[in-house]
Amino acid sequence: MKVGGKHYRTIYPVGDGRTIEVIDQTRLPHEFTLMRLHSLDDAVRAIADMIVRGAPLIGATGAYGMALGLSADATTAALEAARARLIATRPTAVNLRWAVDEVVAAVAPLPVSERAAAAFQCAAEICDEDVANCASIGEYGKHILAEIASKNPGRPINVLTHCNAGWLATVDFGTALAPIYKAHEAGIPIHVWVDETRPRNQGASLTAWELGQHGVPHTVIADNAGGHLMQHGRVDVCIVGSDRTTKNGDVCNKIGTYLKALAAHDCGIPFYAALTGPTIDWEMTDGVAQIHIEERSVDEVRWVRGRTAEGNITSVSVLPEGSAAANPGFDVTPARLVTGIITERGVSPATAEGLRHLYPELDT
Ligand code: MRU
Repeated sequence: MKVGGKHYRTIYPVGDGRTIEVIDQTRLPHEFTLMRLHSLDDAVRAIADMIVRGAPLIGATGAYGMALGLSADATTAALEAARARLIATRPTAVNLRWAVDEVVAAVAPLPVSERAAAAFQCAAEICDEDVANCASIGEYGKHILAEIASKNPGRPINVLTHCNAGWLATVDFGTALAPIYKAHEAGIPIHVWVDETRPRNQGASLTAWELGQHGVPHTVIADNAGGHLMQHGRVDVCIVGSDRTTKNGDVCNKIGTYLKALAAHDCGIPFYAALTGPTIDWEMTDGVAQIHIEERSVDEVRWVRGRTAEGNITSVSVLPEGSAAANPGFDVTPARLVTGIITERGVSPATAEGLRHLYPELDT
């Protein structure tokens, strides 16, 4: 997608192809900074410190992390150690394990001397596949938005989204935001309610930024405002991303998503999750019981990062001294609250039958 009119992916090889460049998302929206990853350590830190984030991009970074690790040591012991370190960075997004295991499967049968090159090749293919998948999600989702627009002529359709599931969270195009970009490009009048998404504000700092870069009308709201807007008929549809979706359609996404689904259900508003195939965990059937929810540092709740009037980037504490805090990073929206799942293969009801129909080869 574009930054200042120039096309960017969120991750790509540079130089001799053995160095990986990413956008440092901790500096957005105030600074657009690129960062180079030269080693497994760099990739592990980039994921753990959320320099890169979003399930598909975490996966792509995991794949390149394997390649960077194998560049230094391609023995089987090092391969297994690299896999373990990368998977341990963040537990909830299943794309990470999927991508790392794709690389292991591709290189483990090879002679040690050929593993690093094959790993870089595999990581590049994972990125290209993600771009194609997200573009396809955009097309399928655009039809849903066009249908809603045809029923509401003469006004923009209002889409509410939570967190950032845009191109910054993938390699390009995004998942939940891809239909919005495609609809906007197609001239469908659209407006996006952007949940700020406490505590790290991925909505306010990333979704608003990337929509702004593409001229898509949007309004940032406090996370607690969405239900009220729904009650007053100011939201036509909700579209969110996912970090892990079970084979029967339970959708795990950024903390707060479940509350939006409950409000949408209560107000009769369609609630869609957009996700690529690698985000489906075919070994799980009960998201609330089975999905490991990442607990992140309470400092993310205690401190808020922003820019002062003088232009300085700083963090301020918003809690009284001595108050405890907690920071679960994700929650699970049960399938019963999900209107449909928008994938690269089409739109499915949030059911085991529906997903199996789209991915017959995966539900073994
Ligand atoms: O903690 P984050 O920023 O990695 O959480 C990201 C989300 O919850 C996204 O909605 C999800 O990963 C889908 S990204 C296409």
